[in-house]
Amino acid sequence: MREKIRLLFVLVIFLTACSEKIEQEDSYDPAHDYFSFANTDQFVTEHLALNLRVDFEAEELRGSATLAMRKLDESAEQIVLDTRDLAINDVQVLLADGVALAAEYRLGESDPIKGTPLIVSLPAAARSLTNFELKVQYVTSPDSTALQWLPANLTAGGKHPLLFSQSQAIHARSWVPLQDTPSVRITYEATIRTPPELLAVMSANNDPLTSRGGDYQFEMPQPIPSYLLAIAVGNIFFAPLGEQTGVYAEPELLDASVYEFADTQEMLEQAEALFGPYEWGRYDLLVLPPSFPYGGMENPRLSFITPSLLAGDRSLVSVIAHELAHSWSGNLVTNATWRDGWLNEGMTSYLESRLMEVIYDKDRVDEEGVLSYQELLQNFEWVPPKMQALAPRLDAGDPDSFQGTIHYIKGELFLQYLENAFGREAFDEFLFAYFDEFAFKTITTERFLDYLDENLLQTESSAVSRADAEQWLYQPGLPDDAPMPSSTTLNEAEALATIWSKGEIDVADIPIQDWSPQATVHFINSLPADVAGDRLKALDDGLNLSDTRNAEIGRAWFIQVAERRYTPAYEALESYLNRYGRGRLIFPIYLALAGNGADQELALKMFEGARAAYHPLAESRIARALEADEVD
Ligand code: BES
Ligand code: ZN
Repeated sequence: MREKIRLLFVLVIFLTACSEKIEQEDSYDPAHDYFSFANTDQFVTEHLALNLRVDFEAEELRGSATLAMRKLDESAEQIVLDTRDLAINDVQVLLADGVALAAEYRLGESDPIKGTPLIVSLPAAARSLTNFELKVQYVTSPDSTALQWLPANLTAGGKHPLLFSQSQAIHARSWVPLQDTPSVRITYEATIRTPPELLAVMSANNDPLTSRGGDYQFEMPQPIPSYLLAIAVGNIFFAPLGEQTGVYAEPELLDASVYEFADTQEMLEQAEALFGPYEWGRYDLLVLPPSFPYGGMENPRLSFITPSLLAGDRSLVSVIAHELAHSWSGNLVTNATWRDGWLNEGMTSYLESRLMEVIYDKDRVDEEGVLSYQELLQNFEWVPPKMQALAPRLDAGDPDSFQGTIHYIKGELFLQYLENAFGREAFDEFLFAYFDEFAFKTITTERFLDYLDENLLQTESSAVSRADAEQWLYQPGLPDDAPMPSSTTLNEAEALATIWSKGEIDVADIPIQDWSPQATVHFINSLPADVAGDRLKALDDGLNLSDTRNAEIGRAWFIQVAERRYTPAYEALESYLNRYGRGRLIFPIYLALAGNGADQELALKMFEGARAAYHPLAESRIARALEADEVD
């Protein structure tokens, strides 16, 4: 016995020593942004003035960025900005009296993910200043990771080229030299010159009545993080949706967009009632060509949207609810670093569901909830446990590929769990106060946890402890008492998939015309693995799956087609891969094809045929996956 106690004692000493050692060696700082070179503890940017010419022939933006800076550390003499593939031509320091001083600068060592630091030495005459401006003359590269220069043939109209940006997560630095971290907020203004027949729009005060002419001025008076800087130039026109809302698109897509997104104004009004005042003035949508790599991007005042939402039946507008909701979670209260991305995406997914519930109904929310939940469970199968935390340790890798499903879906479930525990009324009050407290600020997970603890968990009747919340934030998987979405209509669809696959009913007996597209997706996802080819043919013929106009139904169907090698639908599958460029729609189909044991070559061949129309970010992601053989 004594021996045992002694051993235990030695073990405890040993473990304590170990953990102290780990703590000493581990300098990981969860509040630090490991994806920026900027020395934001010494200088911060407060305002940006852009002056750029848009050159479609050279595929370049050319001009200057003037950064109004404030010095935080008196002894600091060097400013480090983020850049990627920018040609820097000149750097000057502008003093308040109008004097311009030449500044010495150099580019530091490049990193494949972070880009290249631009290191500027403050001239001696400017070293004692707290406030000054830095003017950088530069040209972007045709390979800028943020910009897609679409030739006319890849637009709906086919007559004019089109340019759009996608700055999240760390691509703003490839079109503007700046402190490219969400922890710094800036206001901005811009002068943009374009060919006279095209219109420029930005994540700023777009005036729907602006006349064309090739010379455009913008202002964004609310401070935003750099990933929300956005621009698009093309043959685009405006149509109103409501008093404060509207949609920009090429004329060929404008009517369809007005129909599809008709509920936007109501969404905005309901969102204000739920989450607090909308702080951004107008809310418009910009419907882009198919190569836009995301469903939507919450650029403030002007969400960028994929045309794959134009299903003709308004069934995919939860993406609009999502991007609009970012006007609170993300744009108003911003994740401090990409590791805290769940505070943007998980919170927004929760708000999206709340909005969908008031605009449509609870059944629709439950259906989407079940589909998301299933995606999350699939994700847990291959994401390493450490990365299953909502806020994992993150100091390397590519912030574009972190966490996707986990940030969104596990994040939403966490907030749903809190709502269930405290009741909707108390939780709504908490959220309202949260947006008010942190408006126009950035927030880390740890700050959120403290705020949650003080304002909700420590209430008298608290059903949730800090340790419970920490489990969600820092542990893999889901806690045992996590909410589990369920939907009666989806259960029915799932049951019918089994019955039909056993041959007990015919395709004609599947009441697909009464189903939501979400139920159809679930039916397709629920097909058992052993359904024979001729049965799939009957399904395709009877339900017209290969020709569907609904991009989500097509996605579910073609994943099955690829996994089961249902070759009669391969032609339709290929045309789907050519029709859409949104990563979520095409990526899993390529993976399923390349991973089915027989079609790796075919997947590469189809990719070769389609890649010219894809966005560089989607293209490189697919290329990496197919070439790296990460396909099983
Ligand atoms: N902000 C994201 C898009 C994004 C995320 C861009 C990470 C770059 C890096 C946007 O709000 C979003 O979440 N889009 C989703 C739609 C949503 C309904 C899940 C998408 O694109 O699928
Ligand atoms: Zn989002």
